[in-house]
Amino acid sequence: LKILILNGPNLNLLGTREPAVYGHQTLQDVESLCREEAARHGLQVEFVQSNHEGDLIDALHRARLEADGVVFNPGAYTHTSIALADAVSGIERPVIEVHLSNVHAREAFRHHSFISPVAASVIIGAGVNGYRLGISQLAHLLESAAS
Ligand code: DQA
Repeated sequence: LKILILNGPNLNLLGTREPAVYGHQTLQDVESLCREEAARHGLQVEFVQSNHEGDLIDALHRARLEADGVVFNPGAYTHTSIALADAVSGIERPVIEVHLSNVHAREAFRHHSFISPVAASVIIGAGVNGYRLGISQLAHLLESAAS
């Protein structure tokens, strides 16, 4: 089984971007921990980051053909993108929505997610460990689906 870890806009700046909110670990650190966690569950990983909405949509469409599930941090597009929500619905693969920060403790415009209603699970405010939790949850869902 193979999973896609997909990160949206500005997450390439992780580690240097608002470290008080997002911590000091870089996206490369996140990639390493994701590969480690996926290996624990016997899952192959593709790791993609893009700052472009259309590229994220294309990556989701590819996941429909090439992956069994997705762990997705859509960044600020979470709060704006009906197109990404439609892509998540359209691919018929479980998508776990992850946010590093507790978006509900932040500005009101971060309280609404277009992705949550179409996500299989949502993990918020667990920092980079949220990716680990997301992968573990995805492994659980894929195992249940297989049995
Ligand atoms: C984020 C939360 C979003 O509101 C923000 O725009 C991000 C990161 C998070 O991981 O906490 O870019 O998705």
